[in-house]
Amino acid sequence: FSGDVPKVSNSDTEDALQQASRTLHNKQPVAFPTETVYGLGALALDPSAASRIFSTKGRPPDNPLIVHVSSHTMLRRLLPTTYTIPPIYEILMKHFWPGALTLLFPTDPSLVPSIITANQPTVAVRMPSHPVARALISIADAPIAAPSANSSGKPSPTRAEHVLRDLDGKIQLILDGGACGVGLESTVVDGLNEDGNLRVLRPGGVTVEDLERVLRVELGENGPIPRVLVHKRDYKDEAMEQTPTTPGMKYKHYSPTVPVILACTVSPPPHGTEPTTVQSFLDDVKHRQTSNGGSLKIGILATSDSGLAAQLSAVEGIEWTHYSLGPVADPSIAAQRLFDGLLTLDQAGVDLIVAEEVREEREGLAFMNRLRKAAGDSVWLRM
Ligand code: TXA
Ligand code: MG
Repeated sequence: FSGDVPKVSNSDTEDALQQASRTLHNKQPVAFPTETVYGLGALALDPSAASRIFSTKGRPPDNPLIVHVSSHTMLRRLLPTTYTIPPIYEILMKHFWPGALTLLFPTDPSLVPSIITANQPTVAVRMPSHPVARALISIADAPIAAPSANSSGKPSPTRAEHVLRDLDGKIQLILDGGACGVGLESTVVDGLNEDGNLRVLRPGGVTVEDLERVLRVELGENGPIPRVLVHKRDYKDEAMEQTPTTPGMKYKHYSPTVPVILACTVSPPPHGTEPTTVQSFLDDVKHRQTSNGGSLKIGILATSDSGLAAQLSAVEGIEWTHYSLGPVADPSIAAQRLFDGLLTLDQAGVDLIVAEEVREEREGLAFMNRLRKAAGDSVWLRM
């Protein structure tokens, strides 16, 4: 948080970072690892550099970008000089920065170009913890705008190979930092409301439980504790639902090229309907898929101990590929593997992906937020 440059390990890394920094200053986008997902970065304060992000991704221009900083000083450059950072933000930054938390701050077009904010009066800012991301931003010595490094509508990349497969030929440089530890995007929080509560616009790597715990610990003795409100679960915002500033609301998201079916094993079926058996679900799927001929290949994205993978793959006459989401008791592993699982199964050439529901607790909330957007249909299974 002090803004120290993380030490990079060797001269190859140092050279790659210098080259990436030069590419950024030449107004070309660069893909780089963060702890959440890979980002497609460009100079945030240069509108023509930032515009390359939109053209490379095919991103609609009304969807604002997150600005990444490597120090508190860099954050201040984005804010009005007279602005006092609210105490609740100081608490959140102390606990979660650097990390997977994005905060909205008031800004104006003299400070942050309107191409970044999509003409909102706020800018979304985060300080990533990944050493390569922080080193790149501090070597470039400039705030870096970065959405996920995928074509708009596709799952977010969590490995350099995912970026290469998707954006090869469209970008000059990818920094390879291995697999992302968090695996899905940052939590976007708006704490600027008059009621003092935090609004989670997009659930992500920092969980609602983490936020609530920190508020309790820091504010428990001194009167009222702000609430953490999750969009659609705890509050609705009609106006916002019409705009893309509610992340992921307006546009298609996270879809691999093959269809994804959400297998509900936790939530109750819609009122008036009954759960179906695994067998009759498969009879239905087989019927739909084999109309084009050939043997059916189905990818299963399921926890290792749920029984779904075991029950499905016991059915013969289908080629099954199981990508494990880890133990059901640890949703952080499911979160870390979701996008890699969707992209890996897609790449493996399956006809269909069946993905298992998890409880919407801890990282499971963000996991289900992404999976619901990736899935076309849902089926309620009697296990
Ligand atoms: O983890 C992450 O956040 C990754 C890595 C690369 O940092 N970035 C990322 O960016 O997920 P992107 O563009 O895929 O998602 C940013 C989301 C968008 O859905 C956008 O609607 C929201 O943040 N956002 C950005 N600026 C906003 C603003 N001023 N008000 C409300 N929402 C905003
Ligand atoms: Mg994205």
